[in-house]
Amino acid sequence: MANTSEVVRIRNTQPRDFEAIGDLCRRVYPDTTPWQPEQLASHLHVFPEGQFVCVAGPEERVVGMSAGLIILWDDYQTLDSWEEFTANGMLTNHDPHRGHTFYGAEVIVDPTLQGHGVGGKLYAARRALVERLGLWRIRGGARLRDYHSYAGAMSASEYVVAVVHGFLTDRTLGFQLHEGFHVLAVVPHYLTEDPETLGFAAVVEWLNPLVIQPEHYADRPSLYIHRDAIARQLMQQESLRRTRPIKATDSSGTVS
Ligand SMILES: CC(C)(COP(=O)(O)OP(=O)(O)OC[C@H]1O[C@@H](n2cnc3c(N)ncnc32)[C@H](O)[C@@H]1OP(=O)(O)O)[C@@H](O)C(=O)NCCC(=O)NCCS
Repeated sequence: MANTSEVVRIRNTQPRDFEAIGDLCRRVYPDTTPWQPEQLASHLHVFPEGQFVCVAGPEERVVGMSAGLIILWDDYQTLDSWEEFTANGMLTNHDPHRGHTFYGAEVIVDPTLQGHGVGGKLYAARRALVERLGLWRIRGGARLRDYHSYAGAMSASEYVVAVVHGFLTDRTLGFQLHEGFHVLAVVPHYLTEDPETLGFAAVVEWLNPLVIQPEHYADRPSLYIHRDAIARQLMQQESLRRTRPIKATDSSGTVS
C-alpha cells in the first residue's frame, strides 16, 4: 500500500529495479505481458539516460517508471504501432546520431499513487533530458484509456476532439494534455493487448521550447489542437528563452 506523504525521487533505472518494474507492470496492466528483464537490460544498454524510475522511501520502492529512445521521425509512419516504434520493446532502434525526437515508450505509475504527482515528476525528468540533449520534441502514443466507454457512440477521432476541448475526460490523454502535449493524429492498432483502449492511441507531441523553430510545427494538422495551445506555446517559449538557462530539473520531492 502506498503512503502519499512519503518522499519520492526520480533517478535513472538500474538493473536492481528490474524485478520491481515487472511487479509494477502487473499491478498497472494485469492482462498484459510485463516488461521482461532482457528488454529492460537492452534499454540500459542502448540509452541509460533515457530510462527513469520513481522510488519511494529509504528502501527505494519502485512506484513509477518510464522508458524511451531517440528516433529519426522520418524513418517511421505516423500509423506505425508501438512495436515498430520500439523494436518490440527492445529500443534497439535508438538512433541518437540521426534523431531529433525522444519517443516515449512507456510511463506507468502504481495504481495506489496515480493522481499524486508521480507521473508529472517522470515527465519533468524526461523534458529536462530532452532540453539538455537539445532534441526538438517528445512524441509518443497516448493510450485512449477511457475510450471503451464511448466506443458505441462515437469514433476514436471524435472522442479525441471532445477530450481536447474539455467535453469529455480521459485519464491518460488528459494527463498528457495537462503536461503540455498536443495531439497530431489518432491511430488504430497501436497497442495489441489493451482492452481499455480497443487498440486506439493519440500520437502526441511536446515541443522543446528552447530549440523549436516555427518550421517544426508549421505544417502539423490542426484538427486535434485546442485553439489556445499555439498561443500558449509561443508565450511559454518566449518567456523560457528570456529567463531560463538549459539545466536539469530537480524532480525529487514528496507526493501529495
Ligand atoms: C497516466 C499516468 C502515467 C499519470 O501519472 P499520475 O501520477 O497519475 O499523474 P500526476 O498525478 O503526476 O498528474 C500530473 C498532472 O496532470 C494532471 N492530470 C492527471 N490526470 C489528468 C487528467 N485526466 N486530466 C487533466 N489533468 C490531469 C494532474 O492534476 C497533475 O497536475 P498538477 O501537476 O498541476 O498538479 C498514470 O495515471 C498511469 O500510470 N496510468 C496507467 C498507465 C497509462 O495509461 N500510462 C500512459 C501510457 S500512454
